[in-house]
Amino acid sequence: MRHSKVKDLLSSEKTNYEVTVKGWVRTFRNNQFIALNDGSTIHNLQCVVDFENTPEATLKRINTGTAVALTGKLVESQGAGQKYEIQVAQLEILGDCDAEKFPMQPKKHSLEFLRENAHLRVRTNAFGAIMRVRSVLAHAVHTYFQDRGFVYVNTPIITGADAEGAGEMFQVTSLPLDNLPKNEEGNIDYKKDFFGKHTNLTVSGQLEGETFAMALGQIYTFGPTFRAENSNTSRHLAEFWMIEPEVAFNDLIDNMDLAEDFIKFVINYAVERCADDLKFLEGRLLDEEKQKPQAERSEMALLEKLNFVLNNDFKRVSYTEAIDILRDSTPNKKKKFQYLIEEWGADLQSEHERFLVEKHFKCPVILFDYPAKIKAFYMRLNDNTEPGRETVRAMDILFPGIGEIVGGSQREERYDVLVEKMKAIGIDEEELWWYLDTRRFGSAVHSGFGLGFERLVLFVTGMTNIRDVIPFPRTPQNAEF
Ligand code: 4AD
Ligand code: MG
Repeated sequence: MRHSKVKDLLSSEKTNYEVTVKGWVRTFRNNQFIALNDGSTIHNLQCVVDFENTPEATLKRINTGTAVALTGKLVESQGAGQKYEIQVAQLEILGDCDAEKFPMQPKKHSLEFLRENAHLRVRTNAFGAIMRVRSVLAHAVHTYFQDRGFVYVNTPIITGADAEGAGEMFQVTSLPLDNLPKNEEGNIDYKKDFFGKHTNLTVSGQLEGETFAMALGQIYTFGPTFRAENSNTSRHLAEFWMIEPEVAFNDLIDNMDLAEDFIKFVINYAVERCADDLKFLEGRLLDEEKQKPQAERSEMALLEKLNFVLNNDFKRVSYTEAIDILRDSTPNKKKKFQYLIEEWGADLQSEHERFLVEKHFKCPVILFDYPAKIKAFYMRLNDNTEPGRETVRAMDILFPGIGEIVGGSQREERYDVLVEKMKAIGIDEEELWWYLDTRRFGSAVHSGFGLGFERLVLFVTGMTNIRDVIPFPRTPQNAEF
């Protein structure tokens, strides 16, 4: 008999029929009640074992973590806490689990401990919920773009380009590291390498994405990206997934509209489809909040926070306006954000971003028109700016508790201006000849953005560390699995 999924059984309209379920024992109480989880839902199915007619030796093998197949009648439960249960008639142990040695005991573990056991943490309620939400959000991303006629493009993972020009790349080589061939000048001779040139893991699929937008009109990428930035924070990963739409003929305003609409769509998609998981995660958070002093507790519960984002416009503010707000603000009793006064052009630090989003506007913020010198080379220079105060049509979306969730821009479509900018910062034209071709042949206004998928999952699940929303996090000194 094919086995059923617990999720389907719990929403079954009839009872008193025989079913088989397969899953893992979460708890086994009074030698009688198995709480079975099969990963299809946060809810366990209570399975009542006929212990009088089950051999003692079999009962002993039912531990937290044991894999079992259970067959019996699905009936309405007499006990409190669940609607249905199975009266087990047939019990098969599929895989034993040594209760003494199994790290995932039925108790609350610290997130640090769970990170060290990333291969097993998904067997906990919280990580099961997070990973289901992540999966639904990925589906939402494809649904949004596919329904609107965007073409999904797979940009290369191994590339010769540094899309962000920030030099934060993982090098790729097939050569033996202890015996790299050198050229006459004594430098590594990449001509002898697999691709005949120097390559790295992609930091962004944008540049390749742009070439496709210039033919297909509207495209999106959704793939892994890599950054060798040594920032050991709760918001950075060395390997993360990015969604990058790119749209021909869109200007910066269209880009903002697209980003806001897209983010609201995917959040709503998860809210509608992951009610049980989100409710569980909200409860978990509320428990955590109770441990904190009153002043540090968050004002909104998880679902309230998600609904708030869905029901309010993102606040659109230029960099210059933001600097003015920060200059006049006192983040705590002692100091103003004074040092920004002298420094129009300074990059905002995360404390500034947090202040704007969490204290000042108290909603998601789209910051735009950044100083040219702190942003990437490909962004469209604004017309008519003061010399020394040049700005670009960049936009970052900042989220409460997260900081930057989206980075994007209208692109510099003018060949000459782009080449000039590349020269100024030492980007080799010949390296990016193919990118420049988009501006040589039928160039047009176009825009796009990158959304860090894990930062989105972080926001929707209410988790606070990015390492807890990706199956196997890659961070400095950590690639265990
Ligand atoms: O702002 P970034 O660097 O922009 C780009 O890469 C552009 N090429 C995107 C584009 O316009 N197509 O990165 C975009 C987003 C950030 O806003 C952030 O959400 C996420 O990617 N991100 C990271 N997420 C996790 N770990 C990291 N180390 C990240 N770096 C960026
Ligand atoms: Mg950015």
